[in-house]
Amino acid sequence: MRLGSLISCALLGTALADADFASVRRRLRKDMSGRMGDPPGKYFHESIFHPHYDGRFADRVLDYNEQKRALKSLVQTYLSTFADIGVETWLMHGSLLGWWWNRQIMPWDSDIDVQVLEPSMYYLAAYYNMSVFHYKTPRLPEGRDYLLEVNPNYVVRDQSDWLNVIDARWIDTETGLFIDITTARYDPSHPAGEGVLSCKDGHEYRDTYLFPLRETTFEGAPVKIPYRFRDILEAEYGASALVNTDFHEHNFDDVKMEWVPKMVKTKGGQPPQPVPDTEKKLVV
Ligand SMILES: *[C@@H]1O[C@H](CO)[C@@H](O)[C@H](O)[C@H]1NC(C)=O
Repeated sequence: MRLGSLISCALLGTALADADFASVRRRLRKDMSGRMGDPPGKYFHESIFHPHYDGRFADRVLDYNEQKRALKSLVQTYLSTFADIGVETWLMHGSLLGWWWNRQIMPWDSDIDVQVLEPSMYYLAAYYNMSVFHYKTPRLPEGRDYLLEVNPNYVVRDQSDWLNVIDARWIDTETGLFIDITTARYDPSHPAGEGVLSCKDGHEYRDTYLFPLRETTFEGAPVKIPYRFRDILEAEYGASALVNTDFHEHNFDDVKMEWVPKMVKTKGGQPPQPVPDTEKKLVV
């Protein structure tokens, strides 16, 4: 599908005074956000039923195929919006690994990871916080609202702010699925010298590994990826993750160019449920 066919319109969320459940909920009666259980000072709250769902908008995990479809629309609308508003962004972590295999989200991955540079995060915070973007596409004939929410702690550059490692989120207000947007910040006092970018989640990169970004596609949409994507992936996941075709109860089918779920015997022939992934955070 061409992204040019997506219709978007930005509505500033002026009525939203606070990002808590009561102000943003659309249809749920009960807050599943998990904010009560989180330590004070943590801005984003993951739901009480799954770490990759926002409990202000949803109260259940989608089934395998529903989730796959929702994530596809999530990433397409995100990339289209950021291209429209002129904010440079690139794939990272599991999403970059998915790109490596077949330019798609890996079916067991329930979140999407992207990065932006620090000036972009300031720009998003100043102009787009709590903006709702409405998309109507062939896959979303009813239309769907996506919320861009910026963590006020984005101004804290220190990696010790471990409760707020995610600087912003692109949130599907229908399903609660979201994209984690993290900021890469130059660290002028880094012991390795100049040109090191660091993220609050502990990842650090030489800027020559990231830039110049390469242009490619992901889930059918134009996207950017780090210049030395292979080195970045090997450092994060190990060389085997780039060649091992048996992963997370799936096999990579070279002909279909697709991760195919292994046959799992479940009642009623349901497709396998997505496995919550354990996030690997290693420093390049
Ligand atoms: C974005 O808006 C929400 C809701 O008003 C607010 O809680 C949050 O602090 C804002 N973020 C920034 C970066 O201003």
